[in-house]
Amino acid sequence: MTKRKILITSALPYANGPTHLGHLLEYIQTDIWARFQKMQGHEAYYVCADDAHGTPIMLNAQKQGITPEQMVENVSIERQRDFTDFHIEFDNYHSTHSAENKELSEMIYNRLNDGGYIKKRTISQLFDPEKSIFLPDRFVTGTCPSCKAENQNGDSCDACGATYSPTELLNPRSAMSGAKPVLKDSEHFFFDLPAFEHMLKSWLHSGSIQQEMANKLDEWFAEGLQEWDISRDAPYFGFEIPNAPGKYFYVWLDAPIGYMASFKNLCEKKNINFDEFWDKDSNAELYHFIGKDIIYFHSLFWPAMLDGASLRKPTNIFAHGFITVNGAKMSKSKGTFIKARTYLDHLDPEYLRYYYAAKLNSGITDLDINLDDFAQRVNSDLVGKVVNIASRCAGFISKRFEGKLSNTVAEPALFAEFSSQASNIANLFESREYSRAIREIMALADKANQYIDGAAPWVLVKNEETQQQAHDVCSMGLNLFKVIMTYLKPVLPNMANNVEAFLGCALEWNTVQTPLTCHTISTFKALMQRVDMDKVNLMLEESKESMNSSIKPDPTSPLAKEPIAAEIEFNDFAKIDLRIALIAKAEHVEGAEKLLKLTLDLGGETRQVFSGIKAAYKPEDLEGKLTVMVANLKPRKMRFGMSEGMVLAAGPGDNEIYLLDPHSGAKPGMRVM
Ligand code: 2FM
Ligand code: ZN
Repeated sequence: MTKRKILITSALPYANGPTHLGHLLEYIQTDIWARFQKMQGHEAYYVCADDAHGTPIMLNAQKQGITPEQMVENVSIERQRDFTDFHIEFDNYHSTHSAENKELSEMIYNRLNDGGYIKKRTISQLFDPEKSIFLPDRFVTGTCPSCKAENQNGDSCDACGATYSPTELLNPRSAMSGAKPVLKDSEHFFFDLPAFEHMLKSWLHSGSIQQEMANKLDEWFAEGLQEWDISRDAPYFGFEIPNAPGKYFYVWLDAPIGYMASFKNLCEKKNINFDEFWDKDSNAELYHFIGKDIIYFHSLFWPAMLDGASLRKPTNIFAHGFITVNGAKMSKSKGTFIKARTYLDHLDPEYLRYYYAAKLNSGITDLDINLDDFAQRVNSDLVGKVVNIASRCAGFISKRFEGKLSNTVAEPALFAEFSSQASNIANLFESREYSRAIREIMALADKANQYIDGAAPWVLVKNEETQQQAHDVCSMGLNLFKVIMTYLKPVLPNMANNVEAFLGCALEWNTVQTPLTCHTISTFKALMQRVDMDKVNLMLEESKESMNSSIKPDPTSPLAKEPIAAEIEFNDFAKIDLRIALIAKAEHVEGAEKLLKLTLDLGGETRQVFSGIKAAYKPEDLEGKLTVMVANLKPRKMRFGMSEGMVLAAGPGDNEIYLLDPHSGAKPGMRVM
């Protein structure tokens, strides 16, 4: 087998906010793959870094009254602790705000500039006159130009789904200060992506990219590639562009270069030849694991930048889907926005590694964490099947046979059946079909248990004449266990370590064919506890709490409360007839993405109201609940029918919408004042 040189990355996490279960899907997926490659004897490196730059990080630091450098440092410490505790084993973890990244970003930019791929032109953008800062789209809010819904973001409307440019918003306001933004001119630098169209098409067709990604890319090519704005004006936390005072690289320019920078930093520490991995004609392999939301950056901008700078391009880009918890987007109010640390406070990290592996494949469909299924799966597979093999055999070996395995392999054919799966299972890991690998491994675990059941060593040990047989059966069981744990080692590195200590041997792919005979083992200790549903529930409870306590007004967040509207007379307010309404019925609306149809009972009168709360509520959870409605709103004709009023809710929108919930005692039809 040839030894491959492989460089593996996960997307660089923004140095902003805590690690959560969504992040972990990617790091666990990549970590399994990196560990697997190393077990195959390849020269593989897994690197990552903090994605340190950009406006949100700058503002967040300002809000905390610290420098961005300090904030990045703080977040990084927590982040790396989370990763370590989930057994994510990077060969290097660096930062995009590093000397290596500055040098490489300048080098790549200069090469692109020399190649004629950087264009300059003046554009007009929204500017916050109070804060003296250009406003990124996410930091502008206003009224949707198409449906007139208020408080919409600068790039798209949550109520009707329209997309637009922030200059099209009606009544735009800065989410930073509430000020009315003004248009201001500034010179920007653009990367000539269209110049690479031909190269990109042939590069993308040269490898085996994921089908879903190929489809996306076809769409983008059909729409036509656009020049990419790579500069931002001061104040900005990032690297200043060479020979362009006051202009900074947009965070997404230097972020992927951070992959190189982290590797460079590793090369310096470990004396690895950096150029061998990055030269144009490198025969090392380069893989980026990413989420499906950042395919554009990785399969268009990034390879084009590399090509324009005469560097090698990635061998492949592996995108994955998002996670949902109990069938819905992670939600702070339901407690399903679970932070890495909250999880670790209650549960074993290897449960999650196993569960993700058992559900992951090479596609980009979303993955649901159903917490009942999670507990059931881990308990039945790992505790009930895998650990069970060892716990049933180990005791006898220790107590009856002085901790020593017998000198024969009782069932050579069965052992061969197990060990000959090595290449099949390796192929499944290689192609990121983890769920299929896990299925194969669990089929082996079932077989091992059947073998032990059939041979019943607990009966054999009772008779003097069948002692030897008992010894052979238990030894055989442990040899099957060794094979299974070798296959599971990339997924369960910690348990594998404990098994290595217990069996007194290393679990290696290339010794899977070699059974242990006449070999002394250590005393068996419990390898994994069952998932305790009480702990799962505690974790959910705590996730709710930790989120609630962190709900503080945040003046710089795009979700910030709107500035208080202009003063009105009491009479204006008195015109609004607010009533307590009973949600008698809540239904999905065929063809509507965001709407639920509510039938509201006002205590004698019923109303039909369409409300954009579908992402936040399941219809069945609403029926029978009281809420508050505007009862005298002029009926509006909508695509799906008449809407006769409006229910009141708080929140930024999407799955974070909170219907008003009257205190008990309120009755349908009561006036709210
Ligand atoms: O989307 C994100 O979270 C980015 N911080 C990922 C960057 S990946 C790479 F390009 F650095
Ligand atoms: Zn709209």
